[in-house]
Amino acid sequence: PKITFILPDGRSEIVEAAAGDTAMYAALSQGLDGIVAECGGNAVCATCHVYVEEGLSRLPPVDGNEDDLLDGAAAERLPTSRLSCQIKLSDDLDGLVVRIPDRQF
Ligand code: FES
Repeated sequence: PKITFILPDGRSEIVEAAAGDTAMYAALSQGLDGIVAECGGNAVCATCHVYVEEGLSRLPPVDGNEDDLLDGAAAERLPTSRLSCQIKLSDDLDGLVVRIPDRQF
């Protein structure tokens, strides 16, 4: 599936990810700036925060732990906020567009 990242500086990068990869991994594997992922994808750090600009309705709902972490994210929490390590890519999510906030700390 293809996923588009809008970087903090406004540029967009389209990444061809493997099904089963997380959005966090797709960004890191391309060396994109702005996703820190301090905890390595274990849903404890909230430094992989993104805003889902397109495709939000195709994602499963936020679970309680993700909800708590998003409340503590460094950048403002919006209704579109998600943890990118909890977005598991699949062909159903092809075309997802996520924006990376300007800070993760
Ligand atoms: Fe730590 Fe996502 S990488 S919560």
